[in-house]
Amino acid sequence: MAGRRARTQRAARAESGAPPALSAEEVSAFRERVLGHYREHGRHDLPWRLTRDPYAVLVSEVMLQQTQVARVVPFFERWMDAFPTPDALAAAPLDAVLEHWQGLGYNRRAVALKRAGEAIVCDHGGEVPRDYDALLALPGVGPATASAVLAFAYGEARPYIETNIRSVYLHEFFADAAEVPDSVILPLVEVTLDRDDPRTWYYALMDWGVHLKRTVPNPSCRSRHHTRQSAFEGSHRQLRARIVRAVMTTPGTTAPELAEETGADVAAVERALEELVVEGFFAEEGERYRIA
Ligand code: ADE
Repeated sequence: MAGRRARTQRAARAESGAPPALSAEEVSAFRERVLGHYREHGRHDLPWRLTRDPYAVLVSEVMLQQTQVARVVPFFERWMDAFPTPDALAAAPLDAVLEHWQGLGYNRRAVALKRAGEAIVCDHGGEVPRDYDALLALPGVGPATASAVLAFAYGEARPYIETNIRSVYLHEFFADAAEVPDSVILPLVEVTLDRDDPRTWYYALMDWGVHLKRTVPNPSCRSRHHTRQSAFEGSHRQLRARIVRAVMTTPGTTAPELAEETGADVAAVERALEELVVEGFFAEEGERYRIA
């Protein structure tokens, strides 16, 4: 581990907004620790780590946003059986797509993924683009997902931060800092990146992050990106999920029927319905709602 003085200096630099400095020895010691752990204990058999198909990588990354790895595995396998290519996904009806997502949460990610499949077919001849800006233009794809596709499918050395990777850098290099933004972590991701094999390096970092979370008190709470879900967000999200399930089971349901079914008040149901229509999940026919 880096010396305490070095970490304190880095923390002070982070707080002043200055980029961090790492010696070549620190970089290689850090890499060796992370890769050594991966060789011994890495999750080498995760299905999306056994492929270089950019579509499979894209699907897995969208599923993995805010969902635990172990939960995602069976969903990923069923999804790839049902919709093995962007063409298959684009051609599938939205309700079949949502059905394969039920249980993963955040249904809007499924809708975005389907729209991404359509855009890949319409704008890129059915091939996931190998271009950062083109990936970023796909629905539901942000900087992390775009970088992940390029790193994991194509071996491109792009800076990539997700929750476990963020935890690693906070723990290793910012032990004494508070509220470290990703813009301060990013230069460290760049200097430590293994440009010969970014795919293995990032897998190793993620697995080291999981290991740290099991063995040290929450390293990511020092991040400025660490947020706790409020009780309101939690219950509103739950209501939306229940409404989606109810409308899938009974297409053409009305707001009062949904209020009765979910036990929520009509105003809350109407608010959720309005969002679901605007986001493209639901079509509204008079008083009735169905999957778009
Ligand atoms: N392997 C590839 N991407 C991953 C991710 N986002 N989380 C965990 N393991 C992964």
